[in-house]
Amino acid sequence: MLRPSDGACRLLVDACCHAGQGGACEIAMNIDLSELTANQVYGAMVQTVLPRPVAWVLTKNAKAGFNLAPFSYFNAVCSEPPLIMLSIGRKPDGSDKDTRVNIRERKAFVIHIAHRELAEAVTASAATLPAGESEVEELGLQTVAFEGSPLPRLAVCRVAFACELYEYRELGPRAQALILGRVDRLFVDDALVTRDAKGRPVVAAKQMDPIGRLGGSQYVTFGQVLDIPRPP
Ligand SMILES: Cc1cc2nc3c(=O)[nH]c(=O)nc-3n(C[C@H](O)[C@H](O)[C@H](O)COP(=O)(O)O)c2cc1C
Repeated sequence: MLRPSDGACRLLVDACCHAGQGGACEIAMNIDLSELTANQVYGAMVQTVLPRPVAWVLTKNAKAGFNLAPFSYFNAVCSEPPLIMLSIGRKPDGSDKDTRVNIRERKAFVIHIAHRELAEAVTASAATLPAGESEVEELGLQTVAFEGSPLPRLAVCRVAFACELYEYRELGPRAQALILGRVDRLFVDDALVTRDAKGRPVVAAKQMDPIGRLGGSQYVTFGQVLDIPRPP
């Protein structure tokens, strides 16, 4: 957690504690990221880029079984071709995370969007298991065939994307992996699909009920949904 007392932060202390002006104390932090360690930058990013969607990623292990892990450095980044991005670091011992190895070596992966009831399983799947051990089996999750995909999907998830590695780059001195995946198939549970006033199919966001990631160990779920049409 970054604090005003943190020597690495450049602080702008504005209008602080004006006695006789209501006693309000406003402290603004203006942080020079070049002065932070990589861990501090991580802390600053994950507490301010909010909420982040969570990709629950299934890949195939080298021998048998499937690997499963969550990633919130994740988003949709292009429609033509349809691309998503993941950013994957290393294990505490410095070796590549299993998801990263599996995608680099076997190309195919399936991203699931988990709903509220799955938040604990999502977190449990982030445990660092020895390479080759399957979080899918460990958590007792069922898989089903995913038409058009070489890999199955988790039966319990309402939305899944079948992806193929499109581009793999390593970023920065710690070689963080930036993975672009081309989405070949999108699965949406029938129960989520409704029609708008013009009869077009729409995905019911509230029924989808995805979890979003905040800083630390926090998640967020939908509260109020705002519908603000764009100007023509
Ligand atoms: C909600 C959540 C989001 C996460 N996001 C990321 C991420 O974006 N990048 C990353 O490298 N690790 C992330 N992690 C940590 C990985 O899930 C964790 O290192 C996991 O053990 C990797 O598994 P693997 O070695 O089987 O690929 C996240 C963990 C949680 C619980």
